[in-house]
Amino acid sequence: MTSIREYPPASVFPDSPMTAEYRATLIKLLADQARAELVAAHVYASWVRRVPDPDTKRYLAAIAQEETEHWYKALELLIELGVDPRAARRLRTRSWFYPVTRMLVPRLTWLDVAVGAFLIDAAAYVLVEDFAQSSYAPWAELAQDILKEEEGHPEFGMRCLERLICDRGRARVQRRLVRWWRISMNLFGPPVTRNTERYIRLGLKVRTNEDRRAAFRAAMAPRIAELGLDVPRLYRERYPFV
Ligand SMILES: [Fe+2]
Ligand SMILES: [Fe+2]
Repeated sequence: MTSIREYPPASVFPDSPMTAEYRATLIKLLADQARAELVAAHVYASWVRRVPDPDTKRYLAAIAQEETEHWYKALELLIELGVDPRAARRLRTRSWFYPVTRMLVPRLTWLDVAVGAFLIDAAAYVLVEDFAQSSYAPWAELAQDILKEEEGHPEFGMRCLERLICDRGRARVQRRLVRWWRISMNLFGPPVTRNTERYIRLGLKVRTNEDRRAAFRAAMAPRIAELGLDVPRLYRERYPFV
């Protein structure tokens, strides 16, 4: 897919002239990012009181704080663009992921949270890598800061999984890995959507969904092997993954 990038990284500032298309797309992506950060903050925060191990409890509280900060900073960027954060909620993408998450979050087990930190946070990382090259300068800067903190989250998931493999056995963790692997793969969306060309042209993303999925797969394969687990083989190895 060939998309021509018209806006170089970090070339647009809050007071720059913006086309209506640029502004609307930027706001939608920021609203999506804010929502993802808030879901992460809520999930981690809700487990602080449920986890007995002192080190895990402390680290969970720390990452809940980091995710809350990411959400807050994304809101600040929206406000700087003149968007009321409450209005931003209406501008987000309607994705299947969020209604599904709302349903799943109360039922998550500790094993889900550990696999989620390992996989979903790593998938989010790949997307934020695109934002770190955003044409919108304040977002490029924020995304670079977020990446530094996010690096630790999948590592935390890995440490928890190592312990879970010892306590509950490899087979159980492997089965849960398959379930979340399927969710992660689908989370990247169809290989190319009708928005892809626009995102790349506006310099608001740099890769297609398929490129990001491939980057995620490449990053995760060695980590999964390091845990002594297998990279899941799904029934259908292309979108929608089953
Ligand atoms: Fe985050
Ligand atoms: Fe995270």
